Amino acid sequence: MANFDSIIPREGTSCVKYDLRNQVFGTEEVVPMWVADMDFATPEFILQALHRRLNHPLLGYSFRAQEFNESLANWLFRRHALSIDPQIVSFSPGVVTGLMVLTLAFTNPGDKIIVQPPVYPPFFEVPRAHERIVINNPLKFDGERYSMDFDDLREKAPGVRMLILSNPHNPVGRAWERRELEQLSEICIQNDIMIVSDEIHSDIIFPGYRHTPLLSLDKEIGMRSASCFAPSKTFNIAGLSTSAILIPDPQKRKIYNDTLERFHLQMGNLLGNIAFEAAYNQGEDWLEELLDYLHQSVRIATHYFEEHLSPIHLVQPEATYLLWLDFRGLHIPDDELHAHLIHKAHLGLNRGEEFGIEGKGFMRMNIACPHAILEKALESLKNIL
Ligand SMILES: Cc1ncc(COP(=O)(O)O)c(C=O)c1O
Repeated sequence: MANFDSIIPREGTSCVKYDLRNQVFGTEEVVPMWVADMDFATPEFILQALHRRLNHPLLGYSFRAQEFNESLANWLFRRHALSIDPQIVSFSPGVVTGLMVLTLAFTNPGDKIIVQPPVYPPFFEVPRAHERIVINNPLKFDGERYSMDFDDLREKAPGVRMLILSNPHNPVGRAWERRELEQLSEICIQNDIMIVSDEIHSDIIFPGYRHTPLLSLDKEIGMRSASCFAPSKTFNIAGLSTSAILIPDPQKRKIYNDTLERFHLQMGNLLGNIAFEAAYNQGEDWLEELLDYLHQSVRIATHYFEEHLSPIHLVQPEATYLLWLDFRGLHIPDDELHAHLIHKAHLGLNRGEEFGIEGKGFMRMNIACPHAILEKALESLKNIL
């Protein structure tokens, strides 16, 4: 049994979340609930696989055998009932790198790329880094739940080359339903838009919801898409920079792989390969335990917000361990709110505005930490209210 209650000091491990607190929040005195990794130990079976390999004293150039692709294909079949040919799996050092390479491979400078804010900041940064034009198709919010704005999408779609989809959505926590993805796809097919579906959060889904892989839709949409997967969020191995891009169209796959090779990014790293395979081959039981724990975390937070923090609204997550919190009811300017959270509540959260102006008045809270830490953080929030 995994012990998710165990508090593991991470200071001094060059970890972004703790060791960069001063740089990001101007103080070490915050409980860091920002960058999206977990404060839980990487599962033992992954550490053991790495240790076994490290018993051999030589860490030279290595390659990914067919088992690498098969481990993901089998995982997708078991967890998401998605059947794929392992041949469609390509490598990427990380999902964001994959987004960069896909952008270079399938669009040109000046091309338009649609994103759906509030959304994971690199979705804006990737197109801009390569002189592509970001077109915003903001999500709609009815005060409880977010949805896609298809009328706005239809209006903006003509002339667009690519759409980057967060499926499930970071930060609003939606696990998109089949009918929503179908409607999105229909508009993209009509306008000849390639869909890049970032499914890095697809394993963290709460009871009552399910993940719908873009590739489980019609074959036609599959042929004009690329889907990004990684074990990094699920198994807390983001530091190993190993992910996969699924591209069913062989021509597109070749273009992607050629672009990857142009930057010599195809090699990857030996330990990442080992952890990736171990995660997907052996990770199910551990993941079930993690999901139980995170579901309890969501329940703890939901109850606490309802009982003690009612002016702040917690948008119920269907997926991801990231809570999207609506602070607008407090009527406090964002700078002031952020300063209070850091210096009075001692909490390091992400400002909603990082995810686009649609995030103004919101904060993102990463709750993948022991319950004792979460409860303390909620109490600190109550004390400053
Ligand atoms: C939607 C999304 N995509 C990608 C990433 C990061 O992926 P990687 O570390 O593999 O570049 C994150 C991390 O938070 C994310 O939320």
